[in-house]
Amino acid sequence: MGDTSVKLAIGDNSFDYPVLSGSVGPDVIDIRKLYGQADVFTYDPGFTSTASCRSKLTYIDGDAGVLLHRGYPIGQLAENSSFMEVAYLLLNGELPVQQDLDKFIYTISRHTMLHEQLATFYRGFRRDAHPMAIMCGVVGALSAFYHDSTDIDDPQQRMIASHRLIAKMPTIAAMAYKYSIGQPFLYPKNELSYTGNFLRMTFGVPAEPYEVDPVIEAAMDKIFILHADHEQNASTSTVRLAGSSGANPFACIAAGIACLWGPAHGGANEAALNMLREIGHPDRIPEYIARAKNKDDPFRLMGFGHRVYKNYDPRATVMQKTATEVLDKLGVTDPVFDVARELEQIALNDPYFIEKKLYPNVDFYSGVILSAIGFPTTMFTALFALARTVGWVAQWNEMISDPEQKIGRPRQLYTGPTQRDYIPVDKR
Ligand code: SDX
Repeated sequence: MGDTSVKLAIGDNSFDYPVLSGSVGPDVIDIRKLYGQADVFTYDPGFTSTASCRSKLTYIDGDAGVLLHRGYPIGQLAENSSFMEVAYLLLNGELPVQQDLDKFIYTISRHTMLHEQLATFYRGFRRDAHPMAIMCGVVGALSAFYHDSTDIDDPQQRMIASHRLIAKMPTIAAMAYKYSIGQPFLYPKNELSYTGNFLRMTFGVPAEPYEVDPVIEAAMDKIFILHADHEQNASTSTVRLAGSSGANPFACIAAGIACLWGPAHGGANEAALNMLREIGHPDRIPEYIARAKNKDDPFRLMGFGHRVYKNYDPRATVMQKTATEVLDKLGVTDPVFDVARELEQIALNDPYFIEKKLYPNVDFYSGVILSAIGFPTTMFTALFALARTVGWVAQWNEMISDPEQKIGRPRQLYTGPTQRDYIPVDKR
């Protein structure tokens, strides 16, 4: 925009508001003084036109299908980096030299175990509890065990809590899976990689050694990278809002997990695979496309569309390529993958989807890979939460140290009854 301010005329009054520019992306109109000066609120349900904060972590250009983490394109990170390196990058702002990466990985590996009493929390759940219900409960309960890292004003405690959350999510998620299938929990083995450790805790059993398959380890690590962070999405905004009240980090991340569970958000990966399985065969795709376009039918193509991407989600591009590689290397043929690719082609050539700029998102292909690796669909969103904890923790730290941040407290457009007097029940 180039201007340094905009004028807002309301009735006979005119107000000037500063225009702020970032390093890239749309300028913002700083309306922090609007209500105090003009006695009006802005109205933006879903915050489609609202910037909630300044951030240096992740930049998305929805029209161009661009996703950068601290300036590095997601495709380059997925191809060349590791999840631990991306975690370091998001937390610290720069790619680490080998010595710093090794130290970070060592630190994280020293926090992978859970307090032994937390294992008893699992026994309070039904065996068929959804893993996300368990993740919400157990992560929130961490604040009952790690009091020495809940003082958010102490940078040292914030760092320890951050490392604990990143390190313990794989252990918590793997235990949720083991509990659901009635198998014993495995303790972490820290000589394994972050992702290898997770795979062993998930698929290993005490009765025999478990060899981490490098193909699966690499695919899983790439999937974690693709899910690490994504600007101010619903669950990240939930974590920031919870953190703005001074709540401890474990409670904030538990709130983020709860929000991510929704099928419009992180729950879409589970819903997308269930949808592809329900479609079952390419011949049935037209029936579902018609339903997705029918305004009277609440059905939507799960894994399609995005609040920000009005072009191809760059993560979906990498995910589709990884799905092809993993299925080929594992020698797995999954008819669902064929349905997914056929559905994508049909939808991308359908005027409805073209006009509404609906493309596959990160959740469309991830389920095909996770299913081929052996995860049940109920674990898909738990895996998303495991990876997104890195982003949530990085965003939470950024918010805490942002001098402009204060407790989040949106207002409203009130449309209810104006003041009226109480009527005794015998007079109603
Ligand atoms: C994630 O924000 C993030 O960054 C999230 C995420 C992250 O990494 O954190 O990227 C992860 O949540 C990805 C999105 C996963 N969700 C799904 O795949 C569920 C299916 N998608 C839709 O529910 C929807 O596309 C949303 C919720 C993702 C986005 O919805 P918006 O931006 O609020 O758009 P909208 O609902 O206003 O839809 C615009 C139009 C509507 O039609 P009209 O009312 O204008 O006539 O497009 C239609 C919608 O009906 N539409 C779809 C559709 N998505 C939108 N129609 C059919 N199928 C769909 N999937």
